[in-house]
Amino acid sequence: MKDFINGLPKVELHLHIEGSLEPELMFELATRNQVRIPFESPEAVRAAYQFTNLQSFLDIYYQGANVLIHEQDFYDLTWAYMLRCKQDNVIHTEIFFDPQTHTERGIPFDTVINGISRALDQAKKELGISSQIIMCFLRHLDETSAFKTLEEALPFKDKIVGVGLDSSEQGNPPEKFARVFKTALQAGFKTVAHAGEEGPAQNIYDAIEMLGVSRVDHGVRCIEDETLVSQLAESRMPLTVCPLSNIKLKVFKTMAEHNITDLLDKGLCVTINSDDPAYFGGYMTDNFLAVAQAHPLSNSQLAQFTLNAIEASFISDEDKANYC
Ligand code: HPA
Ligand code: ZN
Repeated sequence: MKDFINGLPKVELHLHIEGSLEPELMFELATRNQVRIPFESPEAVRAAYQFTNLQSFLDIYYQGANVLIHEQDFYDLTWAYMLRCKQDNVIHTEIFFDPQTHTERGIPFDTVINGISRALDQAKKELGISSQIIMCFLRHLDETSAFKTLEEALPFKDKIVGVGLDSSEQGNPPEKFARVFKTALQAGFKTVAHAGEEGPAQNIYDAIEMLGVSRVDHGVRCIEDETLVSQLAESRMPLTVCPLSNIKLKVFKTMAEHNITDLLDKGLCVTINSDDPAYFGGYMTDNFLAVAQAHPLSNSQLAQFTLNAIEASFISDEDKANYC
């Protein structure tokens, strides 16, 4: 099973690039940029990654991003992630970034996007890994800030395939961003949103209805609504599930209790992803292994996760055939 998973080509659809910042690189960038971080060593950083819920993670995660200042930092961050993709046999990845985490600190939008996309261009050429970029709005911030961010993205439309919605789900429902997403769709962006991670199943309905999403990020709480589960299966609405993340943030107590195989059995287009691998203890292969160790899965079921991810990806229809 281990060999099969190692060799299986993988497609990642739910990865926050800021969440791939390993403590070692965090220290290197802190020194290079003379930014203070409240830890003595990379080991001390890792030891602090004990989360009780989504918010307890987000507080530490936004703090970690403070070491990212220059275009080269965003390049280094992204390049390190792409090297991990190569190791894990990831053939295509769709990367989230959170512009407001940086622009709110005075880092220009173009510094962030240029650093990320330079590394992705190099990865396509040198590692043979294709990619797309999705820009997420922080849902704890207001609609005005999201509209401003959308405006800032327009000159870089050729580099950004879609917009997403992340950060604190509770208290920040999809409807808060319905008008921003409508404008983004009109501008030609695809849309996705985190929904049904910590928030109720209703957020999944609303992300589909009000935000016009092409896929739902996480979405595991759909299980609480039988009608919704049937609707998701019938429409093949993809769910980008992040198993290790869900355990670390206590969405499920144990991997054995995770519902991913249940959802796969019910015919949903579920995929396996790493979310914030530097914080949650694993990249793509680790996530596949963790699921397969807790749930009996055949090779064809494991491969189905990759087939689902290709189906759910923003790879153009004519190119999709080359990935199957
Ligand atoms: N949920 C919401 N916001 C996030 C996440 C997540 O899992 N990771 C990074 N930002
Ligand atoms: Zn996420």
